[in-house]
Amino acid sequence: MTQDELKKQVAHAALQYLKNVPVIGMGTGSTVTHLINLLADCNFKNDIEAAVSSSKKTTDHLQSIGIKVIELNQSGDLDIYIDGADEVTPHKKMLKGGGGALTREKIIAGASKTFVCIVDESKCVDVLGKFPLPVEVLPLSRSFVARQLVKLGGQPELRVDQASGAPYITDNSCEILDVRNLTILDPIAMEKAINDIPGVITNGLFALRAADVVLVGQGSEVISY
Ligand code: 5RP
Repeated sequence: MTQDELKKQVAHAALQYLKNVPVIGMGTGSTVTHLINLLADCNFKNDIEAAVSSSKKTTDHLQSIGIKVIELNQSGDLDIYIDGADEVTPHKKMLKGGGGALTREKIIAGASKTFVCIVDESKCVDVLGKFPLPVEVLPLSRSFVARQLVKLGGQPELRVDQASGAPYITDNSCEILDVRNLTILDPIAMEKAINDIPGVITNGLFALRAADVVLVGQGSEVISY
């Protein structure tokens, strides 16, 4: 199977977590895109009263299949949040934010009882950090934060919009530094250390709030742990 087929397969397995859930939390990315497409044809779609979305892209997609999107302030805590990841460990700690939606993803994950992480097998790692770690920053703090990230051993690079070549701007009107070469042996300590830098909105380590269930599209099956 191709990577995209594995993503679709694991998205299909995740549908069961959305049954009998009135308000769902929805992540961002190509695996979640498959999930929303599959949800569009599900017989229980109309039982879903609303969704809380982690990005403008996901909001548009959910609304296009007829699902109402509400704010987290309106919904209160959620039962289920489903999202992809760029890397996930056997301890269910994740590195996320390749799609740029890390801050809203982390907020909704924090407000959800169960975080179901859906990935293809290429995302499974023992140690996080091969994938560049996204750090969302206030634009005015970009250079200062970058210097602090260098002191932590990383090589930060400002994310640019591929189409325009201009700095990539998040849904929160902020910028992203993608940090290479960090040795993330203690993800919780690294998550805290980076979040402590003034100007950082959040970083893509999801270690303090790890996943509760990980579904992996692996070969012809989906495994869960
Ligand atoms: C977006 C994310 C995504 O979950 C992550 O990048 C994985 O994306 P994909 O499902 O496209 O592989 O964190 O901010």
